[in-house]
Amino acid sequence: MKKTTLALAAALLPLLSQAQDARIEAKVAALMKQMTVAEKVGQLHQLSGRQFTGPASSDYADKLADIRNGKVGSMLNVKGVADTREIQALALKSRLHIPLLFSLDVIHGYQTVFPVPLGESASWDMDAIALSARIAAREAAASGIHWTFAPMVDIARDPRWGRVMEGAGEDTFLGSAIARARVEGFQGKQLGATDSVMATAKHFAAYGAATAGRDYNAVDMSNQQLFEVYLPPFKAALDAGAATFMNSFNTLNGIPATGNAFLQRDILKGSWNFKGFVVSDWGSVREMVPHGYASDLADAAVKAINAGSDMDMEGYAYSQHLEDAVKSGKVKMKTLDDAVHRILVKKFELGLFDDPYRYSDAAREKAVLSDPSHRAAALDVAQKSIVLLKNERKTLPLSREPRRIAVIGPLADSQRDLEGGWVVQGERAKVVSILDGIRSHAGKAEVSYAQACASGCAGSEGFADAVATAAKADIVVLAVGETWDLSGEAKSRTDITLPGQQEKLFSALKATGKPVVVVMLAGRPLVFNTIADQADAIVYAWFPGTEGGNAVANVLFGDYNPSGKLPITFPRSVGQIPLSYAQYNTGRPVTDEKNVVYKSAYIDSVNTPRYAFGHGLSYTDFKYSGLALSSAAMSPDQKVTLSFDLANTGKAEGTEIVQLYLRDMVSSVVRPLKELKGFQKIHLKPGEQRRVSFTIDRNLLSFYNSQLAWGAEAGDFKLMVGSASDDIRLEGELKLQSK
Ligand code: NOJ
Repeated sequence: MKKTTLALAAALLPLLSQAQDARIEAKVAALMKQMTVAEKVGQLHQLSGRQFTGPASSDYADKLADIRNGKVGSMLNVKGVADTREIQALALKSRLHIPLLFSLDVIHGYQTVFPVPLGESASWDMDAIALSARIAAREAAASGIHWTFAPMVDIARDPRWGRVMEGAGEDTFLGSAIARARVEGFQGKQLGATDSVMATAKHFAAYGAATAGRDYNAVDMSNQQLFEVYLPPFKAALDAGAATFMNSFNTLNGIPATGNAFLQRDILKGSWNFKGFVVSDWGSVREMVPHGYASDLADAAVKAINAGSDMDMEGYAYSQHLEDAVKSGKVKMKTLDDAVHRILVKKFELGLFDDPYRYSDAAREKAVLSDPSHRAAALDVAQKSIVLLKNERKTLPLSREPRRIAVIGPLADSQRDLEGGWVVQGERAKVVSILDGIRSHAGKAEVSYAQACASGCAGSEGFADAVATAAKADIVVLAVGETWDLSGEAKSRTDITLPGQQEKLFSALKATGKPVVVVMLAGRPLVFNTIADQADAIVYAWFPGTEGGNAVANVLFGDYNPSGKLPITFPRSVGQIPLSYAQYNTGRPVTDEKNVVYKSAYIDSVNTPRYAFGHGLSYTDFKYSGLALSSAAMSPDQKVTLSFDLANTGKAEGTEIVQLYLRDMVSSVVRPLKELKGFQKIHLKPGEQRRVSFTIDRNLLSFYNSQLAWGAEAGDFKLMVGSASDDIRLEGELKLQSK
């Protein structure tokens, strides 16, 4: 009976949603019939509140007047029940009473701050990542927000670019899975539920490949790279239902993304059939003028909307010029109507026409923002994000026996730096610092502290005191890294070594002869060769959020066995950038690092990274064995199962992220040496063993050929299973037969 009811409900759902779509269509059509061209243009105009996340713009009082007059469709950077209610009330005084959309960069938490997105990505844990987005949505949606400008799904392989912090790292397969998880987390089961916000897949497209890692810079790339590496996470976000897309500041092969019809019309709204709307990035419509693509703001407006940019964020191109462009015929009414229609549909789907204040409920805001389960989740996700890069002679976990632990470093007692960038509503006072985390977890151990140098570590005046503190201790925990404001938007760096004198500080402490455990905070891969060579242990904690200090302490004392794996390659030097595990063999591969004459190599560095994509240690050991394929060959319509045994051979319970890579050995377009094609997180008790399996089908073996056709070519494939991209434990071979 129950089964029948469920089946019936499942069958009815699509019908119900079709009926709902039809109802919304009718309402949008009726509303649009009443709208003047100016009112239509108003829906495409997005303004910032008093807070700025881009270059400053017009007067706030003028903005309020425009809202009152129906000339604004959406506001960003307004938050909280009180403010959103006040501004929504103004919009409702306009002739047609069309409610505003409130949007915000809720990137890694609203009030409860989760690890920065790159950090969360190191968890390779889709449930954790989705939960983080869910909680961020719940909190934001209780505070009047309808729409977040997240997730950023840009693949990024250049850690000079400060925005690597906001994405999922370098890999397309992992990045696509994370894009899906984040969209599902933000949007929940249904748009319009008051604990969900609309997601934005950004920045469409290829923004992460800014030349030389300099923010906002031009991008030149082959269509193969674009389709294969950079676009799939966007497609994954779309398939997961992303309500909106944001275009990007960069040019792509000479055409600004904002004015790029190939990206927005042909791909996104054409072959991908995206039904949501596209918002420009901050002022990116007007920036087509300095790009040299539009002659003036009026021309920029025409080019952007014709290319498929629906909403103009703080650009004033649409508000000032679109009405005339429609009158003169440079923009067809149909084009304007399509953009307006897309936006109004979302406003209806969110239920704003039924109740424009449904996301702005003071009681809900109070209850949701103080929900203690959110902090517990932030701790869980932060722990899962931490990567143990090095652990010599089992330095970690620390013992709590009566021992003296010296906690040292400019970031040890910082709260702000644990939060990272894009903190919209964090409660700084509640952030647990690394020092506080260690103190409260230390048990009988005695904890001493020396800052050694202030934030940025420009001076070394405090080093002597720090060395003296270290000398009296049994072990040193040194907290160093980037301060929060060194990564993020407009934070590109040519030098990604540890800022200031932090490596010198490490050397001074190391010279005491005490074991030194380094805890590093950062929003990107840093270069720290002395520490990498000489530290006894290295814990990479990213910017771990509100519960960061507790998460770090749990890892240090072994209450949590680390399982994070790098989602991005750590180079040895800036000179190796861009560096990805998914590189090509070349015609002159290095086979012997000692003999690189006339090889694809550097004469002053090895090719290998400092820490490879997928790297991350545990307090236990995992043994891989017994690889088997259900068949050594497959036809294009078959599937093959690859399986192997994973055993926990150490003494602690632990989680391994097993990784499946493959290489297409000979193909019409050469393929990378390794491509990630699967991963699983496996938790095992000491002595426990499990058979792990992956299914390989044609899709996993496919790529874009020179005609940009997706497909698999017959031939040999190498299959690799391991603990990191440079720690392959088992290999197999598979033949794909032609039909
Ligand atoms: C510019 C950034 O590129 C984008 O990611 C962000 O969402 C907007 N500013 C709004 O703050």
